[in-house]
Amino acid sequence: TRKVAILISGGGSNMVSLVRSMTGDHPARPSLVLSNRPDAGGLLKAADLGVTTAVVDHKPYGSNREGFEAELIAAIEASEADLVCLAGFMRVLTPYFVGHWAGRMLNIHPSLLPKYKGLHTHARALEAGDTEHGCSVHEVTAELDGGPILGQARLPILSGDTPDTLAARVLPLEHRLYPAVLRRYATGDRTPILLTTADA
Ligand code: GAR
Repeated sequence: TRKVAILISGGGSNMVSLVRSMTGDHPARPSLVLSNRPDAGGLLKAADLGVTTAVVDHKPYGSNREGFEAELIAAIEASEADLVCLAGFMRVLTPYFVGHWAGRMLNIHPSLLPKYKGLHTHARALEAGDTEHGCSVHEVTAELDGGPILGQARLPILSGDTPDTLAARVLPLEHRLYPAVLRRYATGDRTPILLTTADA
C-alpha cells in the first residue's frame, strides 16, 4: 500500500476528497496532512477524518526557503509517505524540494493548463473571453504549474459567470478529478484522465 502525504494551506476541501477516496481497494492510504499555516481550516477536517496532522510554518524561515523545505521533507518522511499531493498548498517550491519528490508528487490547479499558471485563474479565463474552463492535475516539476498533465476536467463558461461562480463550479470537478488521478497514479498508471460535466 502506498502512503500519501497531503499538503494544504487553507480549507482543504480537495484534501477531504482525497482522504475519503483512500478506502477499500484503493492502492493508497493517507499518512499525513501537513499545513504551512497553523490556522488552516483543513487541519481540523483532517483530524476529524482520523489522519495525522502537522504544521510547518514558513514564517520563521523568512527567505530561507530551503530551511523551510528541509523541515517539510523531514515531516513528510517521518510519516513514511511515498507520494505527495499538493492540495491548495500556496507556497512556491524550489528545485531542491521538487527534486526530492521527483515522479512522486502531484498538484491540482484551477485552470486548463497550460493556460493560466499561477494565481487568479478564474478571472483570467473570463478576461480572455474563453468559452471553457476547468482544472488540471499534474506531476510537479521545477517549472511552476508546468509538469506533465495527468488529468483535466472541463466545463463551459456561461454568460454572467464571475470569478466566484466559476470557482464554485470548478471546485466540485476538482473533487472528482483529483481522487481519480491519484488512484490511477498510485498504481503507476500515468494515462491522463479527462472528465467533462457530461460525466457528472
Ligand atoms: C483549489 O481550487 C485549488 O485548485 C487551488 O486552491 C484551491 C484550494 O481549495 N490551488 C491553487 O490555486 C494552487 N496554485 P481547498 O483548500 O478547498 O482544496
